Amino acid sequence: MFKITTRFFFGKSIVLTKYGEWNSIMKKFIKYKPIGVIRSPFKEQQGTPIQAKFATGTKGVIELFNEFCEGLEGLEAFSHLILLYHFHKAKGFNLKTKPYLEDVPHGVFALRGPRRPNAIGITVVELEKIVGNKLYIKNLDVLDGTPLLDIKPYIHYFDVFPGSKAGWLEGHDEKLAQQLRISADNRFNEKE
Ligand SMILES: C[S@@+](CC[C@H](N)C(=O)[O-])C[C@H]1O[C@@H](n2cnc3c(N)ncnc32)[C@H](O)[C@@H]1O
Repeated sequence: MFKITTRFFFGKSIVLTKYGEWNSIMKKFIKYKPIGVIRSPFKEQQGTPIQAKFATGTKGVIELFNEFCEGLEGLEAFSHLILLYHFHKAKGFNLKTKPYLEDVPHGVFALRGPRRPNAIGITVVELEKIVGNKLYIKNLDVLDGTPLLDIKPYIHYFDVFPGSKAGWLEGHDEKLAQQLRISADNRFNEKE
């Protein structure tokens, strides 16, 4: 897969290993600077809805940093936004954890919880209006003060896959789940 390329400069041969290049990129830290902050009524993990779907009507505001406001052009015409953010209150991670909806542990990449190797969260929210640098949004499962990394428009042509499989979630009665576990408990604070 990775070729070793030999080049000649001034009669000398230099061996460039593409693997070496790739390896050094993968070992680098990737830095992201927040583009804004999410304001929500939820101050702590416990009691916060576990998904936006269970947070119907919860209102919040995105305060976008002024330097990014020009990038909002055209966004007001979308009804829903995909928010990518940093779970800033998440502490470490476990590769296997019990999710809110089951008492059986699953791998972190088959889960949506905050304690993960890269603490990145994703939530689809409803956009009510944009006023200046403020985006008024609904249906939040995010803590107040969460650093926002990116906003993308939710586009049903791209983001809906009818007939998709839901892994270990298949067979869960959604209504029952809503009644029992719509809010987070303390499990993602505890080391297992
Ligand atoms: C199960 S996660 C799902 C989040 C998102 N919808 C996702 O799929 O990536 C939702 C829980 O994360 C926790 N949470 C939300 N914002 C957080 C933050 N900034 N830092 C740490 N935990 C957070 C809350 O306890 C909330 O109930």
